[in-house]
Amino acid sequence: MPRHLMNPMDLTVEEIQSLIDLAGDIERDPDKYAHACDRKTLATCFYEPSTRTRLSFEAAMYHLGGHVLGFSSADSSSAAKGESVSDTIRMISCYADICAMRHPKEGAPFVASLKSSIPVINAGDGGHQHPTQTLTDLLTISSLKGHLDHLVLGLCGDLKFGRTTHSLIEAMSRYEDVEFILISPPELRVPNYITEMLGKKHLKYTEVQSLEEVMPVLDILYMTRVQRERFFNEDDYVRMKDFYVLDKPKMELAKKDMLVLHPLPRVNEISVEVDDDPRAVYFKQAQYGMYIRMALILTLLGIEV
Ligand code: CP
Repeated sequence: MPRHLMNPMDLTVEEIQSLIDLAGDIERDPDKYAHACDRKTLATCFYEPSTRTRLSFEAAMYHLGGHVLGFSSADSSSAAKGESVSDTIRMISCYADICAMRHPKEGAPFVASLKSSIPVINAGDGGHQHPTQTLTDLLTISSLKGHLDHLVLGLCGDLKFGRTTHSLIEAMSRYEDVEFILISPPELRVPNYITEMLGKKHLKYTEVQSLEEVMPVLDILYMTRVQRERFFNEDDYVRMKDFYVLDKPKMELAKKDMLVLHPLPRVNEISVEVDDDPRAVYFKQAQYGMYIRMALILTLLGIEV
């Protein structure tokens, strides 16, 4: 049976550490891996827009010496004619060795995985989960902070629809002495299943509205955009979209070694004036995304170098 990745919790802490270590080795010595996936093919089946996830998956496979095929919108696939993801993945299984799938419907990659004879990676499903973004985030924090435990992690913005925050909170809940500060307007609070999970594990978390008030205590600030595509009406989006804007005066309140992460794309929630601050690591984070996806492809295909 192929191994799939739907949620970061599908991986043990030890397996995540192995991926982080492998990604580090790939970054240090890319030539060693340049032919690791010769004659292997990755399919990228994206029913929803993407820049980083799709292109970093494709770059990852090219850097491993493999091939890539796929589609970048539902309109350019037979989904436009009504084909189900179950039938599509049966076709893809004939043409590729591994598949990364993004879909606007929560659970669609999981449904595909049930009919797939190749590994399926959830590349983002609706407002639910985004496990490879979380692996990217963990690699970024681990590489730049040196550890994943003993951290105060602030997550700010659209915590209701922001699937990256759901995956990251679940993943970070397994490391020792991590405190979560959930910063959002009341309408965009994190779903109950996340706070229930934190409560059951007796983990420290607080839900607040003011970013300024908590800036001084954060080790990591994970900013997110308001997810326009998940709102039911435009007026609500317009009311929420500029609720938080991280700018230079707010950065002055933060620790000298705090890191600012963002899964990107950014809209208005981080002022471009922050980009030059050495604590702003979101573009470096996007680069780490390729290395961790290389490590993930190798691992799910069972390829050792
Ligand atoms: N972080 C992320 O998922 O970006 P894309 O939507 O561009 O893939």
